[in-house]
Amino acid sequence: MEIRNAQWITTAADTGDIAPVFRRAFEMRKTPLKAELQITALGVYEARLNGSRTGDFVMAPGWTSYGNRLQVQTYDVTELLGEKNEIRVTVGRGWFRSPLPGWINTEDKARRYAQPCGLIACLTVSFTDGSAETLITDGSWQYGESRVRFSEIYDGETYDASFITKEWLPVKELAWSRDILIPQEGETVRETGRVQARRVFTTPRGELMVDFGQEVTGYAEFTVEAHAGDTVYFTHSEVMDRDGNFYNENYRSAKAEVRYICAEGRQTWHPVLTFFGFRYIRLISWPGEARPEDFTAIVVRSDIRRTGWLESGHELLNRLFSNIVWGQQGNFLDVPSDCPQRDERLGWTGDAQIFAKAATLFYDVERFFRKWLRDLAVDQRESGEVGQVIPDVMPESPCSAAWGDAATIIPWQIYQTYGDIQVLEDQFDSMRKWVDFITGICAGPGMWPEHFHFADWLGLDAPEGSYKGSTREDFIADAYYARSTELVIMTGELLGRDVEPYRKLYHTIVSAFRRNFPTYMTQTEHTLAAHFRLAEDPKKTADDLAAMVVRDGTRLRTGFLGTPYLLHVLTEYGHADLAWSLLLREGYPGWLYPVTKGATTVWEHWDGIKEDGTFWSKDMNSYNHYAYGAVADWVFEQAAGIRHDEAHPGFSELIYQPHPDARAGWLKMKLETRNGTIAAEWKYTGNAVRYDLTTPVPAVVRLNGKETRVGPGEYVFWSGDAKE
Ligand code: BGC
Repeated sequence: MEIRNAQWITTAADTGDIAPVFRRAFEMRKTPLKAELQITALGVYEARLNGSRTGDFVMAPGWTSYGNRLQVQTYDVTELLGEKNEIRVTVGRGWFRSPLPGWINTEDKARRYAQPCGLIACLTVSFTDGSAETLITDGSWQYGESRVRFSEIYDGETYDASFITKEWLPVKELAWSRDILIPQEGETVRETGRVQARRVFTTPRGELMVDFGQEVTGYAEFTVEAHAGDTVYFTHSEVMDRDGNFYNENYRSAKAEVRYICAEGRQTWHPVLTFFGFRYIRLISWPGEARPEDFTAIVVRSDIRRTGWLESGHELLNRLFSNIVWGQQGNFLDVPSDCPQRDERLGWTGDAQIFAKAATLFYDVERFFRKWLRDLAVDQRESGEVGQVIPDVMPESPCSAAWGDAATIIPWQIYQTYGDIQVLEDQFDSMRKWVDFITGICAGPGMWPEHFHFADWLGLDAPEGSYKGSTREDFIADAYYARSTELVIMTGELLGRDVEPYRKLYHTIVSAFRRNFPTYMTQTEHTLAAHFRLAEDPKKTADDLAAMVVRDGTRLRTGFLGTPYLLHVLTEYGHADLAWSLLLREGYPGWLYPVTKGATTVWEHWDGIKEDGTFWSKDMNSYNHYAYGAVADWVFEQAAGIRHDEAHPGFSELIYQPHPDARAGWLKMKLETRNGTIAAEWKYTGNAVRYDLTTPVPAVVRLNGKETRVGPGEYVFWSGDAKE
């Protein structure tokens, strides 16, 4: 990469909260044929050539394990060049220099916050006469204060549109590694959608609010007619309180504010170097009258391609599907994040592994995850331990079972959905190291010793005052240890590695597990034991689980770990009806309860807003947490009935085994796979069910108690009264 010949540059003096803008003027005396800009920054940057943005990448260079890997973007800027040129690059704190995460104070965090801002770039121009020139960042560049007076991930942005940079100073070269530079690996982060404001209203408390009608991740764009020096000042929120007033205590320490100092006249603006998760904005200061047409929420996310669709005859269920998709959009901004609004927005490993399968079905996330998995591997600690979040901005925090297992579960899932073995090749060492780490700290054969764990996080069977469900922590730890070991074995076999020691290990773990846990106490324990096939009798375990769910009032009691597999286990062992009852339950707890409360994304808690309109809590209450959206993979696989076995990754052969339910009326799915587009639909007509299947690959059809094999094609099947 030519950029490696450039110098890192920085400001000669610290500009504090103010984002510096770097500039370089140059002339072109010949006709350019092609001009390419390679660029990256320590922080997030916005680059302009002769006033125009060099590309549509937002929040560049994205978020990676910056100490090891920093993505370089390449823009074709041929069209922007003239005779006299000026390149200007504004660099904000971004993830690199923001105080992440919000709620801890560690030396590492202080160190990251104190890092210098930096820019490195290289412009290569080739001319029609065959010659070429390059312009690099070096001591000839200048810097000054930009209009971005403040910008940071959690607290928001302040922009002074009437500020003009008067003082330009020489930059300083910065001694920073160029070995960390890598070409862009992830998906481009772009503005992918616009949501027009629905209404502007005043709350009982007199607050002026704008409602976009949908929770999004990105920023609000506004148009205002103002005098120079007037201020626009607003903050963000996801929900209104019980009395219809502004509420955003659940953002915790994240201020999520925008301040804009106007220029003279009519102007349109949105933040440039940060983002927010929000449905509402509260206008604290706004010159003139606010009208809905003056506000648009702009969706910012990794530009992943939509591949999966679900639709049913059940209105609330459709809203749930939509909420899950919005949840994915809102949390796939370069890294898979827990939530987009409060002082976290981190690549929580547990959340990512839980949602990974559903994510792979709705969108093509192969490239997105492969980039993140490489960060996971480089951030993996010496011992093999995998951090709680990736990029690991909490290096002093211990790992947890089911969180660290993202190292094995996600590569396997990416391989399963897309069928390219390369991801396993790339991640195998990391997978193995994670299992070796657990083995290394095990007290006895196949047993995690006392260790920190998040357990069945947010389980409804948690004792009063705890976030951790009642499922035994060592039970979870050993179950995931077994699963990760199994994945290392299957991966190693595919790659032709010697996995004999892991086979023995697996055997040891399973025997120890069976010995130590002869009975299961909670819904999650039953679920994990059956799903990971650790139970000696999975059918009986699933039957017991079904009985338990009924005893609990046909209500789930599971948390992060039990919930994703609960409906799968029930359905696989003959309780599809009960699985549907859980899914369609409109009261608390259940997936549709938030929908009845007006949710537009998936909530962190089943009762983020309670029946009486009060909030669950203020310190752990996100309204855009994708984890429970994992249920969508059950809808694709079991309800609609489209899946593949592990021997047919990439949907190279299908299993078609739908589980229709009259309460939903009909269900349609479409899935674009690496092997073509699959469509399936079932519909109740009287007592009969009509099934339509379009498969581009051979399929094993399991319907009406029979199994048949069919080739690629379009099929109609019937059950019930109708003739086949
Ligand atoms: C996050 C989670 C995460 C958890 C760890 C929370 O603060 O938002 O979703 O997995 O911490 O248990």
